[in-house]
Amino acid sequence: MATIKAAILGFGTVGQGIYHILNEKRQELREKLGVELEVAKILVTDASRERVPGTMHLMTESMDNVLEESGLQVVFEAIVNEEPAFTYLKRAVEAKCHVITANKVMLAKRGEELEALAKLNGVFIGFEATVAGGVPIIKTMKNILLVNEVRCVQGILNGTTNYILTKMRAEGWSFEKALNEAQQLGYAEADPFNDISGQDAFKKLMILSSLAFGEQPNWADVEVIGIDTISAEQVADAKAQGLRYRHVAEVEKLEDGTIHAKVAPLLVNNEHPLYPVDDVFNAVTMETDYIGTLSVIGPGAGMYPTASVMVEDYAEIIGKRAGFTVTI
Ligand code: NAP
Ligand code: HSE
Repeated sequence: MATIKAAILGFGTVGQGIYHILNEKRQELREKLGVELEVAKILVTDASRERVPGTMHLMTESMDNVLEESGLQVVFEAIVNEEPAFTYLKRAVEAKCHVITANKVMLAKRGEELEALAKLNGVFIGFEATVAGGVPIIKTMKNILLVNEVRCVQGILNGTTNYILTKMRAEGWSFEKALNEAQQLGYAEADPFNDISGQDAFKKLMILSSLAFGEQPNWADVEVIGIDTISAEQVADAKAQGLRYRHVAEVEKLEDGTIHAKVAPLLVNNEHPLYPVDDVFNAVTMETDYIGTLSVIGPGAGMYPTASVMVEDYAEIIGKRAGFTVTI
């Protein structure tokens, strides 16, 4: 049986999740895909620290070292920020590796460039994990776009903020306690300012805009308001009135062809579809011409939901390469 060599860039919450799932599902993946997957290298900033027992010999701090691995075919990327992630992935693609990324900051800005480069090099980019964690919104959208036109996309795109708003309302937790818990659970970004300021949801919205409309609005024209503008008193007042705060991201194509996007908190009542979407859950609704309204909902962050969709991307890519569709 052929062996596929893979590298994991970043070995925090998501990177470790990928490693665990690849081990736990080794046999199923082997049987379904007809290939063995071997994690050959793991890139981190500090290779002297053991994260998972038995992985120290795989650790490196050098991307050169990763790409020197003979026969490397797949690169999972779960580091943070645009750079050096983009440069690393560009090099991986040029070395004919398929890339599977969770990095929405990099992809929102450089996705088009990376896709073009991937086409040129005959490899694939998997990016399901960049938007809404374990919710398969990218696959869902790709699956309907051949026939359907998407007019509007709206939803909760950040698990950390939804978790914070839920706990402040339901448990009376302070903002700080709820954020701290979200960090412990592995939901929050390395810099949680990106979550609470709305920047994380904004980047995800821009990825959905590219997919739905083939373009993004001018970033400077998009109003982005985070949950850091909501006080504990406002959450309590809303509760007393039977309302809930949701942090909502929305992008739509207007009649004149322009794209309008906004990210902001919204007060909703119990008739609004986002009212019951609690905890770390994300929900995305698309307005389409033929299907009508289509929604997907599920865990929007966390180790296993996120890593599992990256392994699904891997299975799909390996299936495509072998010329068949993988159904797991
Ligand atoms: P994390 O726990 O902070 O882990 C980040 C990892 O990347 C660490 O292992 C870190 O190395 C490594 N790293 C950072 N900069 C690096 C660099 N320049 N070179 C080499 N390694 C570097 O982050 P995470 O939560 O796993 O998130 C990783 C990515 O997935 C982010 O882009 C995030 O937005 C995205 N994402 C996260 C989730 C989630 O639920 N957590 C969900 C979807 C998408 P050290 O260990 O040495 O510090
Ligand atoms: N910090 C992000 C969130 C991770 O809470 O939604 C998933 O992208």
